Amino acid sequence: MENNTAPINGLSRVDGRMKVTGKAKYSAEYNTKGVTYGVLAASTITSGSIKSLDTKAAERAPGVLTVLTYLNAPKIPGYQDNSQAQSKGPLKIFYDNKIYFNGQPIALIIADTFERALFAAGLIKATYDTAPFQTSLKNNLNTGISPRNGKDYLRGTENAFKTAPVNVEQEYSIPTEVHNPTELGSTLAYWDGDDKVTVYTKTQGVKSTQRSIAQAFKLQPENVHIAAPFVGGAFGSALRTWPHEIAAVLAAQVVKKPVKLVLSRADMFTSIGYRPASWQRVGIGATADGKLVGITHEAAGQTSAYEDFSEGVVNISQLMYACPNVDTKYRLVSLNVNTPTPMRGPGEATGAFALECAMDELAYKLNMDPIELRMKNYAETDPQSGKPYSSKFLSDAYKLGADAVGWNKRNPKPRAVTENGWLVGYGMAAGMFGAYRNSATVVARLLSDGSLHIETAVTDIGPGTGTAMTTIASEVMGISSDKVNFKLGDSAMPPSPTQGGSSITATVGSAVNDACMQLKEKLKELSGNSESTASGYAQILQQHNLPQIEVTVTSKSNPDMSKYASYSWSVHFMKVLVHPTTGVVKIDKGLSVADAGKIVSPKTARSQMIGGSIMGAGMALMEEAVIDHRYGRLVNNNFADYHVPIQADIPQIEALFVNKPDPHLNPMGAKGMGEIATIGVAAAIANAVFNATGKRVRDLPLTPDKLV
Ligand code: MOS
Repeated sequence: MENNTAPINGLSRVDGRMKVTGKAKYSAEYNTKGVTYGVLAASTITSGSIKSLDTKAAERAPGVLTVLTYLNAPKIPGYQDNSQAQSKGPLKIFYDNKIYFNGQPIALIIADTFERALFAAGLIKATYDTAPFQTSLKNNLNTGISPRNGKDYLRGTENAFKTAPVNVEQEYSIPTEVHNPTELGSTLAYWDGDDKVTVYTKTQGVKSTQRSIAQAFKLQPENVHIAAPFVGGAFGSALRTWPHEIAAVLAAQVVKKPVKLVLSRADMFTSIGYRPASWQRVGIGATADGKLVGITHEAAGQTSAYEDFSEGVVNISQLMYACPNVDTKYRLVSLNVNTPTPMRGPGEATGAFALECAMDELAYKLNMDPIELRMKNYAETDPQSGKPYSSKFLSDAYKLGADAVGWNKRNPKPRAVTENGWLVGYGMAAGMFGAYRNSATVVARLLSDGSLHIETAVTDIGPGTGTAMTTIASEVMGISSDKVNFKLGDSAMPPSPTQGGSSITATVGSAVNDACMQLKEKLKELSGNSESTASGYAQILQQHNLPQIEVTVTSKSNPDMSKYASYSWSVHFMKVLVHPTTGVVKIDKGLSVADAGKIVSPKTARSQMIGGSIMGAGMALMEEAVIDHRYGRLVNNNFADYHVPIQADIPQIEALFVNKPDPHLNPMGAKGMGEIATIGVAAAIANAVFNATGKRVRDLPLTPDKLV
């Protein structure tokens, strides 16, 4: 596998040195005078209500300032808007005595040190009235309901796959996969009087957190200051404001001191959402020469008892292939668990596992190469809307990947190749995700020393937004990147959307591009309409006695976009080794190819693709939250028992890019890649395992016991 297209030169992470030297400060690392510490105590039952709560021992414990529970916590004004009894909605912390899931916070202990708060948390005594509960998706599929805003989909005829000369129909399941970024959920809150609060918190959106804290405490948004200059991985887990963040702000108000609340790793399993367990059935049929006749895709995902969370699990079957007959259904199953949340490739990563495994199964039945089958059913226009694509170079991606991997040398026959006693298999699968662009505002200042300073309230949850924005600014202005200073992650900066949905490079990048264009226009006017070069910028300002020139620019989605269907595309190739006796699966090589438009920042793009592939490897091979359904309690809420891939699991993964600009979406021609990096990876691994072993595992994770 050689790297024959995208250069890996390009700018290194602008904040890389800060991150590796510890100078980058995350929310939990901020301190302020007189800071106190919060620790949550959690319900040990799964459903019912609190009968009695004895907090006396905890309150008397050394260093404890207060213990907040539903009995004594001040009413949160925003919680009074509508009653949870009447409508479903986000969990209201310390609102009443109801228990919806095991691990639900029942008390927050505030003490002068973390250790004293943790000790006191162990002294809380609760008794409960227990109610019957359900925590198993598999056992409750028959209780699934249609999500309020999701309709069943039909194009052509229902169940047409059954009439096709060649078809497959199979069920697939994926367990709950829990968000476990390195950085724990952390909040530091302190009030200034009764109406102003500052909150350092792990969030993907400082502006959205500002809105939700303002709403909860009925404050003016400008009196709520949110800062998240660094975020240690989020992947969807910090897209919303969670109850523990509200609790920290509330506690700071009560004790009139700064409160720092850092979730424990165990808390992460019940406090910040997860990719919901899912069940899927895919029927897919084709003519003998491989033309798709019909796809039927049915799915169910779990949600909590208090809130509906739905995602587009079946959408990919409506969109991926040129198929005349498609019908899909999606159901929600309410269980006594906490509410799920988006996780990288939300919906599509789940759906692609089923669809892309089913395509592989169909290819085997047809005795056809899986890439050939995909090309035979290649959608030239969007099959759902009929619109042309703003750009689609997925066929280039197939070719690029197949050539680099040596796909034509793959032996399609299962269990036919061995290397040093290990079974060898190659598999591939594709992915897609919407390419979006929203509105963002940036302020850009060019100083008379020639340096350029840009600010906007976006966060960088890890992909390297600062690096990509610096690259765009330096290219448009024609100045070197070390002259650019890009600042982000603070609600006092001009508004940018929440970082999510693979949309930030396109969205904020457009605003940076437009601001730089306006600065150049100003420089042109100042210099009497002659084009100035980068080396002359400082001189022009100095000649006019200007310390700086400044523009504030809002850049919005291009109205032309409604004429097009816009997607990013990916294809993942995996070579796996499977031990014939023990069933151990090792990834030997991985290659992901993206059609993500023009690659703005090659180094961080490559990292983004490789990181997404590693996340897909976790989904395929090891990640699984296990609940003991007798008690409704998680049994593996720690890193000893809940496995995520580590270096030894990931020997060599490469990323390639088609690197052709999308001519319609934005001035850079960039499309997102955060989600497509993961979507399809699990299927590629499962397909490779089939090629290696002849065993089709449709129930993730693909643990050794399923292969022996
Ligand atoms: Mo992503 S699941 O949009 O953080």
